[in-house]
Amino acid sequence: MKAVCPGSFDPVTMGHLDIYRRAAAHFDEVVVLVTGNPSKKSGLFTIDERMELIREVTSDVPNLRVDWWGGLLVDYTTEHGIHALVKGLRTALDYEYELPMAQMNRRLTGIDTFFLLTDEKYGYISSSLLKEVAKYGGDVHGLLPDAVVDAVKEKYRTIDG
Ligand code: PNS
Repeated sequence: MKAVCPGSFDPVTMGHLDIYRRAAAHFDEVVVLVTGNPSKKSGLFTIDERMELIREVTSDVPNLRVDWWGGLLVDYTTEHGIHALVKGLRTALDYEYELPMAQMNRRLTGIDTFFLLTDEKYGYISSSLLKEVAKYGGDVHGLLPDAVVDAVKEKYRTIDG
């Protein structure tokens, strides 16, 4: 069975990576789907840069591929014959955020969402929190993959001139 791990992933964190790897251990094929519109400038990284970073840090996972989508998630899954979504849950706040989306997606096409509980090491991190800490020079090693730490530093160096 194939599954999609969708998200904005701006950028991919160790928490996301842990969910992708665990999903890949349970499903035959996992598509990490970066959502958003490539022609709109929003976020720190472009959609292409986010995909490239994910490819770099998952190159050892043979049954995982990376793609992007700018429309309704269920249109992507229907088009590709995929019947499962996989998301990570950190806290009850994530549950409140994810529940209506999971129920709406199920109502639209019958697709099921499978939730994996985030590893306790990564329960408090998010892309936004790590970007903020990195922006002001805080240490985010171990929370972002090494390649992503470098990419974030480089991005802020370029932005700040
Ligand atoms: O990383 P995020 O921003 O929490 O991911 C949320 C995401 C991208 C999974 C959600 O916004 C989404 O599914 N977007 C695609 C558009 C869509 O299908 N929206 C209706 C969801 S019920």
